[in-house]
Amino acid sequence: LTDPNFCPNPDSANLWCKKRRQQGKTIGLVPTMGALHDGHLTLVDKAVSDNELCVVSIFVNPLQFSQPEDFNIYPRDIQQDIRLLATRGCHMVLTGTLAEFFPAVANLENIKMLEPGPYAAGLEGLYRPGHFAGVKTIVDRLFATVHPDKAYFGEKDFQQTLVIQDLAEQSGFPDIQVCATQREVNGLAMSSRNQRLSASQRQQAGRIYWALLAARQAWREGVREATMLAKIMHLELSKEAFNIEYAEVRDPQNWTAEKPDHVMRKAQALIAINLDGVRLIDNMSLHEE
Ligand code: PAF
Repeated sequence: LTDPNFCPNPDSANLWCKKRRQQGKTIGLVPTMGALHDGHLTLVDKAVSDNELCVVSIFVNPLQFSQPEDFNIYPRDIQQDIRLLATRGCHMVLTGTLAEFFPAVANLENIKMLEPGPYAAGLEGLYRPGHFAGVKTIVDRLFATVHPDKAYFGEKDFQQTLVIQDLAEQSGFPDIQVCATQREVNGLAMSSRNQRLSASQRQQAGRIYWALLAARQAWREGVREATMLAKIMHLELSKEAFNIEYAEVRDPQNWTAEKPDHVMRKAQALIAINLDGVRLIDNMSLHEE
């Protein structure tokens, strides 16, 4: 095992990457907030195999949390993360503080947030005001620091992948790779937040996957109305003591804040629930890929 190089701040990471880019090396970036699980490690494996160098950023970004408590309790264990990354052949790990990511801003309250764009409308954008502006602002900074050829994101955060694809199109780089959601045996999407669930809550949370499967089954049987598909998911989710934030369908090719009122050829079912203070999201495409 070789430990990845460790860059404790964005400046050192920028220099590390610049030097390698000048040598003609290709770089794949996996942006993370740490507390790595198999979902992240699949992204790392892909970045290692697609590029000459794989860079992983670990930064719990305060700009994307609307609740300070949620930010404070977000799991962190960078030493364990680095140990895991060493087993997957990652070449460099970068981290930093908010002040180091924005050295020109004297008062961090004054960081200029990027406009999150059209894909931030509705669902996560509604339930987590300011979240996507925070994500886009830090991801833009990470892209500027590393200047990757490719960047890897999990499909679990479906709406986030749309926001970031939009950013990459505007910036002209990098190539965004969206990788399939990794699941526990019971279908629960892997997430750093799952660490906060008890064994029985993990079992309960498997119901989210069933609800998505129920929507997919209905779609396959010809159901196309977003309202009906949402109802089917709600019915399944109501079997557990979840606080449902949303269980809805959107047209992934024609994103709308509200339920689409046109006939969809493609559809994405998206769910967010709260289970005893732990917020879980998941999604599934209903159409055949
Ligand atoms: O998906 C995440 O972990 C975060 O939103 C990201 C992309 C690392 C930005 O902080």
